[in-house]
Amino acid sequence: MKKIVFATNNAHKLSEVRAILAPDYEIISLAELNCFDDIPETANTLEGNALLKANYIFEKFGCDCFADDTGLEVEALNGEPGVYSARYAGEANDAKANMKKLLHNLGNNTNREACFRTVIALILGGKQQFFEGRIDGHISFEPQGTAGFGYDPIFIPNGYKQSFAELGTDEKNKISHRALAVKKLVDNLCN
Ligand code: IMP
Repeated sequence: MKKIVFATNNAHKLSEVRAILAPDYEIISLAELNCFDDIPETANTLEGNALLKANYIFEKFGCDCFADDTGLEVEALNGEPGVYSARYAGEANDAKANMKKLLHNLGNNTNREACFRTVIALILGGKQQFFEGRIDGHISFEPQGTAGFGYDPIFIPNGYKQSFAELGTDEKNKISHRALAVKKLVDNLCN
């Protein structure tokens, strides 16, 4: 089995991506690499942050790796929170506080269109490539459901009545921004 580092310690993402890439690739997390560094995410685009993380690992460990960065982009908020999705309500990456701030800022606005966008930066044999996945939908008026993480309870993908948090992980994994980006990555890695 081939090995590749996924520059994350987010357990949700690791299990989502492991399920998609098995059995072709064994995914190594940062913890398994013994990397506990606070990797800078100081770029102002998803592409920039994904590349910062992948480059950091490649330069320090010299191994094949990929990193992702995701943002929720809300049309009526000019694309906010976007690249700042994790820390929208402050440094703590507090999902409840982030959703509360977003719902407050959106108020009763009838334009609730939004999308999740994931960018993956891959460094394979020293060569860089990007893969993007996007899912369009809208923001509910209040949180619905308990599965998933982050903004899942307030994001309703187009063609569905339930939020990501109500659909559950299996259904979400079939259609999500990250699944679409990972599919492109897999097509590239496995073909
Ligand atoms: P990251 O760049 O993948 O760490 O994502 C940044 C932030 O976007 C996370 O802290 C979450 O708040 C949010 N986010 C990323 N992916 C998802 C998802 O699949 N569902 C809900 N929120 C997400």
